[in-house]
Amino acid sequence: MNNRDMQATWKYHDGTKHSHWSIRNNPHFLDWANRPQPFKIYPKIEPLPLPRDVPQTGVAALSAISEPVLSSPADSVPDLQDLARILYFSAGITKQRAHPGGEIYFRAAACTGALYEIELYVVTGDLAGLDAGVYHFNPADVSLRLLRKGDFRGNLAQATAMEPAVAHARATIICTGTYWRNAWKYQARTYRHFGWDNGTLLANMLAVSAASGLPAEIVLGFVDGEVNRLLDLDTRHEVSMCLVPIGRKAESSLPALREAPALGLETIPLSEREVEYPAMLEMHDASSLESEEEVAQWRGKQQVFPSSALAGEAVRFQRLPEEQPKDTIEQVILRRGSTRAFDKTASITLDQLSTIVDCATRGLPADFLDPLGAQLNGLYLIVHAVQGLKPGAYFFGREQNTLELLKAGEFRAEAHHLGLEQELPADACVDIFFLADLKRILEGYGNRGYRAVQLEAGTIGGRMYLAAYAQRLGATGLTFFDDDVSNFFSPHAKGKSAIFLLAIGKPLKRKPQQGL
Ligand SMILES: Cc1cc2nc3c(=O)[nH]c(=O)nc-3n(C[C@H](O)[C@H](O)[C@H](O)COP(=O)(O)O)c2cc1C
Repeated sequence: MNNRDMQATWKYHDGTKHSHWSIRNNPHFLDWANRPQPFKIYPKIEPLPLPRDVPQTGVAALSAISEPVLSSPADSVPDLQDLARILYFSAGITKQRAHPGGEIYFRAAACTGALYEIELYVVTGDLAGLDAGVYHFNPADVSLRLLRKGDFRGNLAQATAMEPAVAHARATIICTGTYWRNAWKYQARTYRHFGWDNGTLLANMLAVSAASGLPAEIVLGFVDGEVNRLLDLDTRHEVSMCLVPIGRKAESSLPALREAPALGLETIPLSEREVEYPAMLEMHDASSLESEEEVAQWRGKQQVFPSSALAGEAVRFQRLPEEQPKDTIEQVILRRGSTRAFDKTASITLDQLSTIVDCATRGLPADFLDPLGAQLNGLYLIVHAVQGLKPGAYFFGREQNTLELLKAGEFRAEAHHLGLEQELPADACVDIFFLADLKRILEGYGNRGYRAVQLEAGTIGGRMYLAAYAQRLGATGLTFFDDDVSNFFSPHAKGKSAIFLLAIGKPLKRKPQQGL
């Protein structure tokens, strides 16, 4: 069983670290003439347009993010409108901008390099307005394309070793990662981006499902080969990353298993030439689960990860203010866009920061986390300008809901360096770093734990984006110099690995140009 050979993760993780040296000595450049297509296109399959005039949920974004299911009728089954809403607000095109290298279609969730390597598929039984089948979602024309006709939910449930959320859902969305679409820019580091970019998308998906009154959960325990086969994926190019069952039906009998032969469906090549990065294929292979027994065993291996006891000066986050912004989840998703320049003279309030951290860190519904809501990632902050907090480095004690001061000081220059020498982390009001005890996570979950920790970070980061924009603040994901981040937060973070970074602040209001 490859999943237990943890050297594979260390090889990948250490081999894809950014350092001052690695950035300066990488000869990679962007070959615009060979830029990958932003969409997966099946030229021979007719589109089934999704409804575009779907009613809004009207649910406030902050509630949708933080309360997993707002209403839970005994049976909750999505209809075509729910599905259209969930797919569009997770991966739909929300903006379009001309760029010298070609048009960029910005999507509902943030994504490294705006390259959108995460594809969505739906495996569904009969829904009001949609026949049972396996479908691909294309955001370019907001349509589904039928890959397999009939009810394949039995196959999917079997591939998850009868995970109850999948077995009881009328529809399950599958998220896949397409290597080349992101590796064109980021090379082998793309496998980390699969977790980040899938995660930001999942934050939207979970929030919009909750706002639609439909329970949803992230499922990482599945037999990779079976799910990839069901979607007819060419796994040297694209692989399944997670499943999200939507809704819950009490019925216990699943449709019978069906034959799922290879389809060999034609798709338009992404680029004239593709470069393969074997490190990613090896990482994926080493974190794949090969049988239902392995899935069942893996799921039984959940670990509790308590946060450390407080040692230093601490500030307790206030209870959330009663009056919270009421903008709906749809409004906030449409408004979101990564901040391109922060106002370094601005500050945010402690209430705003607590709202972001609190909404984002209420337990994720995921099969790799225990129901007590443990978290794989620890949060470390560099505070530049938060009213009521001394500037400095902090650790967030999740159980105590407290920020522990690790060292006081102005660390804008350090943040500039840690965030790959970009202005954004230096000019923000606060930078939130995600660090994890990879050794312990891999011991518990095998290599699959690497997928879990990246995906969790992306999802919490995605929730933070939404919670920031709900309060009319700005945010952006960032990349970082791995070991320098761990060193900066040590000794507290000794032995932990840097996983993710998000900067939050107030967007710089550009002055109108004179004479115009
Ligand atoms: C995990 C993550 C890391 C990112 N890293 C950077 C970064 O290092 N520098 C940067 O300027 N933008 C970064 N971004 C922002 C993306 O470029 C941005 O999400 C993308 O262009 C799509 O635009 P939008 O977020 O405005 O929709 C990052 C985004 C994510 C989700």
